[in-house]
Amino acid sequence: MAPDFVREAVRGMDGYTPGEQPGESDRVVKLNTNENPFPPSPKVMAAIRDVEAESLRRYPNPTGDLFRAAAAKLHGVTPDMILCGNGSDDILTIATRTFIPPGGAIAHPDPTYSLYPVLAQLQDARTVAVPWGDGYALPIEALLATGANAIYLANPNAPTGTFVPPAKVAELASAFPGAVLVDEAYVDFADGHCMGLIAQHPNVMVSRSLSKSYALAGLRFGYAAAQPAVIAELMKVKDSYNADAIAIAAATAAIEDQDYARDKWRYVREERARVTAQLEALGWRVLPSQANFVLATAPDGRGREAYLGLKRQGILIRHFDKPGLADKIRITIGQAHENNALLAGLRVLASAADRAAGAAEAARGRRREEDAAPAVPAMAAAHAHAPAVAG
Ligand SMILES: Cc1ncc(COP(=O)(O)O)c(C=O)c1O
Repeated sequence: MAPDFVREAVRGMDGYTPGEQPGESDRVVKLNTNENPFPPSPKVMAAIRDVEAESLRRYPNPTGDLFRAAAAKLHGVTPDMILCGNGSDDILTIATRTFIPPGGAIAHPDPTYSLYPVLAQLQDARTVAVPWGDGYALPIEALLATGANAIYLANPNAPTGTFVPPAKVAELASAFPGAVLVDEAYVDFADGHCMGLIAQHPNVMVSRSLSKSYALAGLRFGYAAAQPAVIAELMKVKDSYNADAIAIAAATAAIEDQDYARDKWRYVREERARVTAQLEALGWRVLPSQANFVLATAPDGRGREAYLGLKRQGILIRHFDKPGLADKIRITIGQAHENNALLAGLRVLASAADRAAGAAEAARGRRREEDAAPAVPAMAAAHAHAPAVAG
């Protein structure tokens, strides 16, 4: 029983469910939380080693100016257009507290990142889930019709991996009076991005994560880009020291080592194409993904069974028990040997299913033969009680 001094909104909500994190000694193939399959750049590790005791004794720079300067250079904007966060989830929290009043609403295409409704509930606000258009097209008219305070768009989307062209996002932003938050946690694996929109659209804010692109999920660092007037408001809302000294040093080194990061993005994209082709050869339907994961529909529609069958083989992927997703699994793209283990695991499940189907067919055949045989009284009696066998 939740204590009754807890806010009603909190008592009434489920909270976000993160993917499983096995212990470090557990030998599993971990393709369930969209982490980068490679370690961070050696320059990041050097930057962490170089952190001085003195910079831990003191509070960090409250706005992470070292990182802001590096990010501004990378994106061709000014540092006052960058906000640092303790992961991009922190950026999303700050944005929600800044844009969404109690009783207000976030609109988002559905399905998408399941944190958005949690953030709205915490704000005593609600989400309006608008189904994607055909082929995961942005449902512009329906989103505009919600009259929400803000539209949150994960692009590439999670868990589908699909991508909305920036021109469509610009169309939405031009017609919408509220904030448009483009959550680009996976954008470095995509063919385009929406950073260019912030110059023309004061209501567009782009959030980025270092968790996936720069292999720093454990460090916790994300950032936002928007026009200076928007960043100034977000700054008032964030915790005073929401990015720590180690994170600022490491994140700066990470985005400064673009050669290392880009090499890994290229690898993931190539593996994504290979895994997609192999899954399709096994009869899975795979959505065209621009992220570091793919969403695949099971040939027999049994997503949860595939998830459990892989788990029994020590392979973790993600299954969402939700309408429209239950027949699918989401697979993070790993290194080639991990992806091969996943594909081998699915082949094991397929041949086990084939064997089970073969055995059932053989049993049906035997029963047909027995039915055709002259009835022996005892056997006829037994058949009268046998369950019906589907054709
Ligand atoms: C769409 C989306 N946005 C944001 C995040 C959060 O990333 P971070 O690790 O930067 O908090 C995730 C993480 O899974 C995500 O899927």
